[in-house]
Amino acid sequence: MEETLKKTIFSGMQPSGLPSLGNYLGALKNWAALQDDYNCVYCIVDMHAITVRQDPAELRERARNLLTMYLACGIDPEKSVIYYQSHVSAHAELAWILNCYAYMGELSRMTQFKDKARRHDENVNIGLFAYPVLMAADILLYNADLVPVGEDQRQHLELCRDLADRFDALYGDVFTVPEAYIPKAGAKIMSLQDPEKKMSKSEDENDGNVIFLMDEPKVIVNKIKRSVTDSGSEVRYAPDKPGISNLLNIYRAINGETAEEAERDFDGKRYGDFKAAVAETVVGALTPIQNRYEELAKDRAYIDGVIAKSAEKARTMAEETLAKARRAVGFPDR
Ligand code: TRP
Repeated sequence: MEETLKKTIFSGMQPSGLPSLGNYLGALKNWAALQDDYNCVYCIVDMHAITVRQDPAELRERARNLLTMYLACGIDPEKSVIYYQSHVSAHAELAWILNCYAYMGELSRMTQFKDKARRHDENVNIGLFAYPVLMAADILLYNADLVPVGEDQRQHLELCRDLADRFDALYGDVFTVPEAYIPKAGAKIMSLQDPEKKMSKSEDENDGNVIFLMDEPKVIVNKIKRSVTDSGSEVRYAPDKPGISNLLNIYRAINGETAEEAERDFDGKRYGDFKAAVAETVVGALTPIQNRYEELAKDRAYIDGVIAKSAEKARTMAEETLAKARRAVGFPDR
């Protein structure tokens, strides 16, 4: 397909924890698969990360590790733009402009803000409140047509669309109004101990809930073995079997099977055998990624090169849209 005919995809991930199996199966695996059919821009949103307190040295290290992990998961810097949000100052500039078009009322209704404000009640800062506006700036700067996001980011994407429409209604055609991209094989991976909750590194104190992409095989096997056991003994999808259903989803997200095929694989098998098979599947998927990660991490010069070159590409793309927005609101040319 011609570069110019391809649609643009934008997505981002916070470097606020260690990347998890949920990040891989819910996002990174799909991001890599989209690279041939779309122009993809994948950001490491370190500016979003500081809306909750971070240790500076740790944040810097995690951002680099996450970028290395993007590459290890098959995101190719020759095809896609992979960069740190804080390396492209256009994000902050457009976010400021958009802040002046976003209402207190609509931001107050964001469920993630309400939730985080409750959990970090000692630090309900303006950045946390304006988080969705910065996210809108991310997306709009690159004229993204499609944004792969999970359910929890839908409301933010809706706000982004509202801001783009509002701005364009005032000033003409400045922004591309993006749409949510729901991948066909997207998987929402839940906590191993509490399968009603999302598997999330930053929102979970108990490490047993989360498989990290760099967990050693024996750790992975153990976490899956100790995952909640539902009532009954059959391996099948059922509303009263959230733990088993989650493991089936993990298994299928890796091998691409349908629900029926996966259930058939474990017909007559016990939970113990099933868990062992899921663990083996996960280890099989993660081992090559871990090996690639180790190789890449050693090559500091290569990673530095990717960071510098990609940031340059991102800046060029972002500056073009920022210039239009600046002109639209009446800033003098520079
Ligand atoms: N808020 C998103 C999350 O926590 C991360 C993010 C920031 C993002 N900017 C984005 C996702 C732009 C998609 C597009 O998951």
